[in-house]
Amino acid sequence: MVLACLGVLLITSAAVAAAAFPDGLTQVDVAKQLKEELLGRNPGNEMLKSWNGEDPCSPSAWEGFSCQLKDGNRVVVKLNFSSKGLQGPIPTAIGSLAELTEIDLKDNNFTGSIPHSFSALTQLLKLSVICNPFLINKLPDGLSTGMNFSYGGCAAEDYHSPPGAAKERTFVISSVAGGSLACTFALGSFFICFSKREKRPQKTDCASTTNPVYEECSIEITTNPAVQQLSLKSIHNATGHFKTLIGEGGFGSVYQGTLAHGQQVAVKVRSPSSTQGTREFNNELRLLSAVWHENLVPLIGYCCEKDQQILVYPFMSNGSLQDRLYGEASKRKVLDWATRISVCIGAARGLVYLHNFAGRCIIHRDVKSSNILLDHNMCGKVADFGFSKYAPQEGDSNASMEVRGTAGYLDPEYYSTQVLSTKSDVFSFGVVLLEIVTGREPLDVQRPRSEWSVVEWAKPYIRDFRIEEIVDPGIKGQYCSEAMWRVLEVASACTESFSTFRPSMEDIVRELEDSLIIENNASEYMRSMESTGTFGSNRYLSIDRKMFGSGSARIDAAKFALDSARIDAGKGPL
Ligand SMILES: Nc1ncnc2c1ncn2[C@@H]1O[C@H](COP(=O)(O)OP(=O)(O)OP(=O)(O)O)[C@@H](O)[C@H]1O
Ligand SMILES: [Mg+2]
Repeated sequence: MVLACLGVLLITSAAVAAAAFPDGLTQVDVAKQLKEELLGRNPGNEMLKSWNGEDPCSPSAWEGFSCQLKDGNRVVVKLNFSSKGLQGPIPTAIGSLAELTEIDLKDNNFTGSIPHSFSALTQLLKLSVICNPFLINKLPDGLSTGMNFSYGGCAAEDYHSPPGAAKERTFVISSVAGGSLACTFALGSFFICFSKREKRPQKTDCASTTNPVYEECSIEITTNPAVQQLSLKSIHNATGHFKTLIGEGGFGSVYQGTLAHGQQVAVKVRSPSSTQGTREFNNELRLLSAVWHENLVPLIGYCCEKDQQILVYPFMSNGSLQDRLYGEASKRKVLDWATRISVCIGAARGLVYLHNFAGRCIIHRDVKSSNILLDHNMCGKVADFGFSKYAPQEGDSNASMEVRGTAGYLDPEYYSTQVLSTKSDVFSFGVVLLEIVTGREPLDVQRPRSEWSVVEWAKPYIRDFRIEEIVDPGIKGQYCSEAMWRVLEVASACTESFSTFRPSMEDIVRELEDSLIIENNASEYMRSMESTGTFGSNRYLSIDRKMFGSGSARIDAAKFALDSARIDAGKGPL
């Protein structure tokens, strides 16, 4: 019996070696070519090293290959090269394996596009290229339109799974960074890790989606040639061997450096203990390669060498908004009210861009003052999209369903329903607005219990028109009350418990722009009021909201001021 089996095996092997493939090659020839193509860019790859012998199906299948007996020949029917750390172009030789029904290339670093040779794969039912940050996802002409093609970001593996497939969900609620870690545990109800089964149908609109990072549409992601792959040596040179530490976050340490051509950079090095894995790294690479906006911190380069994962960004010389509000920098120089508003306008514009990105709708999920960076002109830019804190380690297939964010900024509705929408970013942005008004951290357990959460603490004061009691002492008496009120109204709307009552980022930008116009034109505004005899002469006179809250006098006065300011700024009246 054993001999008989061996005989069949030998005959089969010989038959396959001789069997002609469409382009006149044999399976052995194709396998050899495939191996050579991959070895060129992946010389030390463990999977490639394990491919012994000439025939990928005999005597036993090579790692990543599945074979089947067809017409007396053992032929390759499936390829699974997922998570093998492969780089370079996808081998064209794959297109000569004519019996292939499934190809899984997910979670690698393939570059270029899907080879045209794939159009010869007439049996192909499934192709996955998910989580290949530099791959252009366009299918070559000729591939069956009925084929199941999966592509997308690194945190969206199960987004394209067949409908109806039950999904295990793990909810990991992120905690506050650094010093606020203690309060993460104190606020037990916020920070629970549990698993549960997802039963809700998936939504496909941009405003509300179960895809946590971005929703794939038909537009392909193009790689960005401005993002360079850097060697570890050049990173060492740039940072003087990681000499100047500028910050620490969930990903790892951040160092200052200078590239060879003189550009100042911030270099983020993934720490071995980081809970953010390769998935987040790839996701950041992919998203940052695809999007560009002046209010987003762009990626300049990356390095994946010797187990190091490093991201390189332009250095934002004025640090983060958080640093400027209650970090060391705030002690040196207080950020004035107009600058606070203008920084937030910048960040809000960046978020509008993300929320409307080419039909994809990217949701940041970690909007907070430490992720709003300030360049040399004090222009606010959003950083760290594509990242999420406390991501599971590599290999966890449930990543896309996790509730993520930072405590104090996390949308309570998203937390309780697990339905993610752009309005979750809006909630977090509202918390940032409260930070710029109050100069307080979103969660601070050093304070009395009723003041732990800035949202809960500030709301009654806003409701009772007692804003002077919550305004940052550093800017007291140095702001125009009307501009302050407008920002607080936006902040209150953003932090509504129900997401439907929250404004869109576009509305927020408009409101903040108006506030800034009012703030910048406050002197003129007050002069106009003086000339009409409505108000006193102090620019920073506190306007009593109670007096005017519903009265026509205030509305008319404010509308008049705003219209004049808008016209000054080249815009039309409201
Ligand atoms: N491009 C940059 N330019 C200047 N400083 C930066 C830059 N990126 C980060 N930093 C500094 O490094 C600090 C840490 O940043 P990092 O993004 O790693 O952590 P975080 O934002 O505090 O937390 P998280 O990991 O949750 O995003 C920031 O607060 C900021 O001070
Ligand atoms: Mg950050």
